[in-house]
Amino acid sequence: MKNFITTQKWSRSELQAIIDFAMELKSNPFQPILKNKSIAMLFFNPSLRTKTSFEVGISELSGTAVILQPGKDAWPIEFQENIVMDGDSEEHVKEVAQVLSSYCDCIAIRAFPKFHDWDFDRTDSVINSFAKYASVPVVNMETIEHPCQELAHILTLQEHYGDLQGKNYLLTWTYHPKPLNTAVANSSLLIASKFGMNVKLLCPSEDYHLDDRYLKAAQDNCDYEGTSFEVSYDIESAYSNAEIVYAKSWGSLQNYGKPDDQMASNNKYKHFIVDESKMSLTNNAVFSHCLPLRRNVKATDAVMDADYCIAVKEAANRKHVQKSMLSKIL
Ligand code: CP
Repeated sequence: MKNFITTQKWSRSELQAIIDFAMELKSNPFQPILKNKSIAMLFFNPSLRTKTSFEVGISELSGTAVILQPGKDAWPIEFQENIVMDGDSEEHVKEVAQVLSSYCDCIAIRAFPKFHDWDFDRTDSVINSFAKYASVPVVNMETIEHPCQELAHILTLQEHYGDLQGKNYLLTWTYHPKPLNTAVANSSLLIASKFGMNVKLLCPSEDYHLDDRYLKAAQDNCDYEGTSFEVSYDIESAYSNAEIVYAKSWGSLQNYGKPDDQMASNNKYKHFIVDESKMSLTNNAVFSHCLPLRRNVKATDAVMDADYCIAVKEAANRKHVQKSMLSKIL
């Protein structure tokens, strides 16, 4: 039984096999691969793309998707071990994971961090608790990483460029009026480095460094691939020669759990917006983003409407890669 929680547990060739089969499914979408299979999808947070692409994709493969929102249309769940459950939670993940495993062939989880304490949030306790107690594969639909987005990102880049080995990849921080999850940024570093690109992380200062776990993983992947990994605070040099620009906003881990301090810091860096003048410094780069994206805050209308913007293609590819990944693990 293999979970899909982090791409770090999958080899580049295994991930490429998922992407290759996603290409086949893209041209031949209706196949009964998941006939008589059911997938429980638990959403602790909102979604447009993930919910729709999984549900439609599972249906296209003749499977059944069951969508649950714990605390809304399903009972609130407790994750702490050895606790007297006299608070809001009505049942424990130990029972939930076993019961869902008895009905379904896979459990998929979206559970963002709580944004109080990064030392705790970095343990990714919700999805790891499900993985501990479930007897069916567990899939990450975004926690502190977003591996399904990673697959769609790579498929979309391969459709544009073919081989990605040695491409110059830039992940840039952007402003957002709320401190956001680091998941897509963490994932961007993991997958760009795993697929053999020269990776640059552009952020306003050391306060915006991602967790050392992801910086180290990116460095290790690049060392393995013989490529480079660099952190930059200089917009002009970071954009120069980039062939791929990926943008994401996140709250600084230095001020984690202190949203007012995070925003006071973020407000100094609105100029990190992706605009045409920055894109003109690149080597004809494509631009992408996981979406949702606030126009003229993270990227300008001109960038979002440019031919080089592949964000919508990447969102569309979510369905194909997820269908392929489910076909492999089930
Ligand atoms: N990119 C992504 O996961 O989108 P949703 O939050 O809408 O699912």
